[in-house]
Amino acid sequence: MQPQLTTSFDTPFEEEVYQGLMAYPKHLSSKYFYDAEGDALFQQIMDMPEYYLTDSEFEIFDTYKQEICNNFSSGGEPFNLIELGAGDGKKTKILLRQLVDSGIKFTYEPIDISQNVLDGLENSLKRELPELAVATQQGTYFDALKKINAKDGTRKVILFLGSNIGNLLHPQAISFLKQVQGLMAPGDLFFIGLDQKKHPQTILDAYNDPTGITAAFNKNVLKRINTELQADFNLDAFLHWEVYDPESGTAKSYLVANSPQTVNIKKLGLTVNFKKWETIHTEISQKYDDETVTWLSEKSGFRITEQFTDADGQFKNYLFEKR
Ligand code: AVI
Repeated sequence: MQPQLTTSFDTPFEEEVYQGLMAYPKHLSSKYFYDAEGDALFQQIMDMPEYYLTDSEFEIFDTYKQEICNNFSSGGEPFNLIELGAGDGKKTKILLRQLVDSGIKFTYEPIDISQNVLDGLENSLKRELPELAVATQQGTYFDALKKINAKDGTRKVILFLGSNIGNLLHPQAISFLKQVQGLMAPGDLFFIGLDQKKHPQTILDAYNDPTGITAAFNKNVLKRINTELQADFNLDAFLHWEVYDPESGTAKSYLVANSPQTVNIKKLGLTVNFKKWETIHTEISQKYDDETVTWLSEKSGFRITEQFTDADGQFKNYLFEKR
């Protein structure tokens, strides 16, 4: 029998980079786009004219803020407004202002993995909405949600905006939704933003801007491997490539080697060879239609009670409750 070679890893990042670059075809997870530099690049993406997702969701909130907030505050009892992955809160502030102005009693509890992001958000809220009660929660979504549940039995409205769930394949999205559903009580609400299927060119343009911001965002995973795992990826030797399958609604990002090359990753003791035109698959951004959203909601124990869309039907926000 051959002895099994075992490699030990200090972090999940190391293990996933190792597995992904040893696999064929090669892949890396888009969750590793986000360090301080990646966060700043994503911020720039959200400000790009081609990245319609942010503007469309902003328009939905601006148009339907009263209806949305009436749904949140059903019955008038105080509630916790919990946001998973809050970021800079630019869109959420429309709803926060509406709730504050209507005199509705609630506490805003943004959850984010980055304390830096939470500090920035808390400071801007102090300036812009000083009367708002804010309780930030640093950590992973589920750990923070569990903590909130353990603290009090107040009704919860959970926000998951920006089509963030679209970075997961359907089976992973269902398992994520099931976990959220499991932490909800009857009467709690889940408000989710999902990008819709549309003209394929509009989608390709959103993920392939001429200024190269999205390319830099995609390549940030290689940059992180270079700095954190002492590697020597030549970022110029990879193209950012986007494809969109209008049948499945899946946009996929790749990094494509434009020449044969060898990369050394010192921290992993790994040498990785690339043939010319070999790919690394880095991200999916799923686009939805009502049938798919109904299917996802039913598979994870939810029912859709309301939906809101922008004038062009580019994006939708759905209210889910536990079945
Ligand atoms: C965070 N997520 C929903 C973005 C998206 O649209 O998939 C990330 C992104 N990737 C490239 N551009 C934006």
